[in-house]
Amino acid sequence: MIKIAVFDSKQYDVEPMGPCGEARGVEFKFFEPKLTSDTVGLAAGYDGVCVFVNDTVDARVLDMLTEQNIRLLALRCAGYNNVDVKHAYGRVHVVHVPAYSPYAVAEHAMAMLLTSVRRIHKAYARTRDFNFSLSGLTGFDMHGKTVGVVGTGRIGRVFIDICRGFGMNVIAYDKFPAHDANIDYVTLDELYARSDIISFHCPLTDETYHMLNRDSIKTLKRGVVIVNTSRGALIDAEALLDGIKARVIGAACLDVYEEESDIFFEDNSGHIMDDDTLARLLSMPNVLVTSHQAFLTREALHNIAECTVDNIVTFFERGTCDNELCYRCGKTDTCRAQRIEKCF
Ligand code: NAI
Repeated sequence: MIKIAVFDSKQYDVEPMGPCGEARGVEFKFFEPKLTSDTVGLAAGYDGVCVFVNDTVDARVLDMLTEQNIRLLALRCAGYNNVDVKHAYGRVHVVHVPAYSPYAVAEHAMAMLLTSVRRIHKAYARTRDFNFSLSGLTGFDMHGKTVGVVGTGRIGRVFIDICRGFGMNVIAYDKFPAHDANIDYVTLDELYARSDIISFHCPLTDETYHMLNRDSIKTLKRGVVIVNTSRGALIDAEALLDGIKARVIGAACLDVYEEESDIFFEDNSGHIMDDDTLARLLSMPNVLVTSHQAFLTREALHNIAECTVDNIVTFFERGTCDNELCYRCGKTDTCRAQRIEKCF
């Protein structure tokens, strides 16, 4: 049996991953704590570790994993901004799940957008209290509105298809435009200036960090609705709050938040919220927050479990895996497609 320590695990991880692993000779031990330099000792004696979006896999943790002879870090997610992939080179092999259900995330983005624009969350709370007043619930038609999509990869393209079904005008920005896809690409500046709705679907990198910031918010169309189901730090949260207070931003739908790691996925209902920016955002009538939930469908969880197990089995059989991240340059797709040798 291949023994893998799973960090930051929840019941919804255990249910699909346990049986899937058993069927392929992988024994998972599910730990609730996140992987950090304080918890890394739990991985002693295992062949590999499995982590999620908010585990800390920095140089220090990677060194400690190496000291414990851990050869594999299996991410059960697509994004890997929480892993120092360059430091991992020569130490620990890193694999991820590049795609598990772009529909799950794109549909959640649209669900948040519709909820916010049509005030469904307000109406739900009101009618349960036998309050059938409509005051303050006026929304707007999606049909004919311009939606700006930042990042036209797997999720962005599904979101574009959904928006087209609503009769919206879609414009998009991508650093690497897909010219085969019949997408109306514009510059990021133009997208910010023209969009009634902006939805983020690009990865978090040094380049995209705070791509929506104090300066760019000044260039937005008044009343714009911001949707972020990608990574929190694409948006400067304090600048977003100020943009909402200044009435520039009409609404924000946030599935991710830049300081989410110690807050999201946990029940903090009995605690005083230390994060003033998040508390203030949550107090706004036009801000909708979900707790990094966009991936959470039965189909996605099943696909994550299958791909993670397959990555682990393939790596331990062959010493490499198609879903391995390339450490040499820190990039993935281009490098991986060309690579025929093992990374190290
Ligand atoms: P993908 O790799 O298929 O697409 C990403 C797109 O972003 C590509 O077209 C790429 O060219 C583009 N891009 C890269 N750098 C850019 C830049 N500097 N400016 C503009 N565009 C840039 O990724 P996919 O599967 O569509 O996922 C997108 C993001 O969604 C992930 O990076 C992840 O952060 C997030 N995500 C969130 C989930 C959630 O539960 N909230 C679940 C899964 C992914």
